[in-house]
Amino acid sequence: MRLQLFLGVFSVCALAFSPVADGCGPGRGYGKRRPPKKLTPLALKQFSPNVAEKTLGASGRYEGKITRNSERFKELTPNYNPDIIFKDEENTGADRLMTQRCKDKLNALAISVMNMWPGVNLRVTEGWDEDGHHSEDSLHYEGRAVDITTSDRDRNKYAMLARLAVEAGFDWVYYESKGHVHCSVKSEHSVAAKTGGCFPGNSLVTLEGGAKKLMCDLRPGERILASSGSDGSGEPLYSEVVTFLDRQPDAHKTFYTLGTARGANLTLTAAHLLFATDAADCSRSALKEAFASDVRPGQCVLTYGQGDEEQEEEEEREEGTQTRKGGVRRGHLTRVTWVEVREGRGAFAPLTRHGTLVVDDVLASCYAAVDQQWLAHWALGPLRALHSLAGSAFGPGTGTHWYARLLHWVGSVLLDPSHFHPWWKIGTI
Ligand SMILES: *[C@@H]1O[C@H](CO)[C@@H](O)[C@H](O)[C@H]1NC(C)=O
Repeated sequence: MRLQLFLGVFSVCALAFSPVADGCGPGRGYGKRRPPKKLTPLALKQFSPNVAEKTLGASGRYEGKITRNSERFKELTPNYNPDIIFKDEENTGADRLMTQRCKDKLNALAISVMNMWPGVNLRVTEGWDEDGHHSEDSLHYEGRAVDITTSDRDRNKYAMLARLAVEAGFDWVYYESKGHVHCSVKSEHSVAAKTGGCFPGNSLVTLEGGAKKLMCDLRPGERILASSGSDGSGEPLYSEVVTFLDRQPDAHKTFYTLGTARGANLTLTAAHLLFATDAADCSRSALKEAFASDVRPGQCVLTYGQGDEEQEEEEEREEGTQTRKGGVRRGHLTRVTWVEVREGRGAFAPLTRHGTLVVDDVLASCYAAVDQQWLAHWALGPLRALHSLAGSAFGPGTGTHWYARLLHWVGSVLLDPSHFHPWWKIGTI
């Protein structure tokens, strides 16, 4: 059951991220064209997956109504896809508003509808509902559900339309009535949480010699600036990228950006770990792992090699300390001055041999979800060993996040729940 569920989630990801590709690198293209698959229409009143809509195996729990005045209204984005007909009977454009995930699935479905029935388009009869026309706790109130038909309103097509919606990656599809199909998706942050922690594709890592490389171009076997030991207080060194715990070049995610006083700005997902001090104690001994979403202005992080080297050398002489070790500059404790939440593209989680890495000139962890660097590093020991035996023969690969589950499981056996990122406390499958 668990395995099935896992494979289900995995294939949804693979589907979800296949339609779009830009950004860096080939990203895709190493897939062969799949043989046409036999598609079975849904029966009237059938839903897929075969669990209740608002459970974890489907679209997850209802999180509250979104109105035009609510803070969460910004989570909704309009869909202007010209291949989709919006009924818009309210004449407010509300049917076009939906979450990014809902939009991605709908756009994928629009393409399969045109392929299946040339000359026919996907039609949306209900999207986001601000007028309370649906039952209590309907996902329409959150922009996470759509009711659909085909543009020719041929009811004989709706059973197959429901199947196409399942294939397009909707998290729950219900052939609700002879007149329409209902589809819904998980909330954005529950999806983000499941992928553990990641950096966007346009973040930069530092190679030996100081050159910078885009995260999306990084490959296993390359050595990048990191810190020794499995915590932030170690010495700087170059650590080999063993594998990617997560690699989804086309994913859209919500990221936290932490801006620092030295101009280095680190961008990463909420549940990812980095090393920060308390606001009150900005000293190296106070560095410890923290979730990105818990770091506040005033806390210090370790930054590397930003800006004026002369001043740094001056400081070195004054301090009388050796700040260069093996040719690598030591990090500076630097105050975080601002925090922002933004959308970004790509989700990359490289695993280095030392469990740390410097991204955008700021020291971060390779791990996420559980605020215990030692535990994560220990739990993934076998994986690092496997990869060092096999070399980097695995290639970059794409889209795994099973490690976050593994960690979650190990953590749930060994740790108090307070060590989990809040998103992981809601529960996982
Ligand atoms: C970091 O953000 C600040 C403020 O937005 C900007 O001025 C600075 O150029 C950014 N630094 C880098 C390295 O992009």
